Amino acid sequence: MKKHIAIIMDGNGRWAEAQGKKRVKGHERGAEVVREITTFCSNQKDIDRLTLYAFSTENWKRPKYEVDFLMKLLNSWLKKELPVYLENSVRFEAIGDISAFSNNLQNTIKDVQKKTAHCTGLVQSLALNYGSKNEIVRAVNSLIANNIEINEDSLDKALDVSQSVDILIRSGGEQRLSNYLLWQSAYAEIFFSDTLWPDFSTNELQSILKNFEQIHRRFGGL
Ligand code: FPP
Repeated sequence: MKKHIAIIMDGNGRWAEAQGKKRVKGHERGAEVVREITTFCSNQKDIDRLTLYAFSTENWKRPKYEVDFLMKLLNSWLKKELPVYLENSVRFEAIGDISAFSNNLQNTIKDVQKKTAHCTGLVQSLALNYGSKNEIVRAVNSLIANNIEINEDSLDKALDVSQSVDILIRSGGEQRLSNYLLWQSAYAEIFFSDTLWPDFSTNELQSILKNFEQIHRRFGGL
């Protein structure tokens, strides 16, 4: 069975502040780490999906300067990333309600999705304007609108991402789920790391993967 890894990339602001820099510098470095981790995962035969929390439905509450910066960073980063996705056969996919973004950013997201749609390697999902509660409500409403009975299977399929999460990692020292993939993580193994996201490395991911292999997953059975 191939693995779905999901990551809450926390600690960018603290990383920058600790160096006397503006918080947004942490997001810039964080984006570079996204590339390193994605490339690493794309080279692992047993990982088929990597879902990264890049902007939550609650992140709009941040100062306008930081929100604007994140929007611009996402736009320019996705454009720069396209050749890297193609080189590594990574299919890019956005999850969340991107209709709240500017037309310009929405077009970039759709363009990169379209241009990587044929890639057969790792799927990299970026959670953008994503919140698990919002996702579940949208899914339920779409089932009602299409007159489909609501059960675990139909709801599973109606979500932005159906594949259940095997490994959920949160960097930055906090131990909470922050409205992230709550349905999909029902049986995820959860790893909390004290490392701030800009310092997160493929070495640390490898050590988490080793620990995961030691776990006997029972999924409620014996
Ligand atoms: C949490 O750190 C991180 C975010 C809210 C955004 C995550 C964004 C990135 C990793 C960079 C952009 C991503 C891409 C793909 C271009 P925080 O700001 O809450 O940190 P803090 O807890 O130290 O304040």
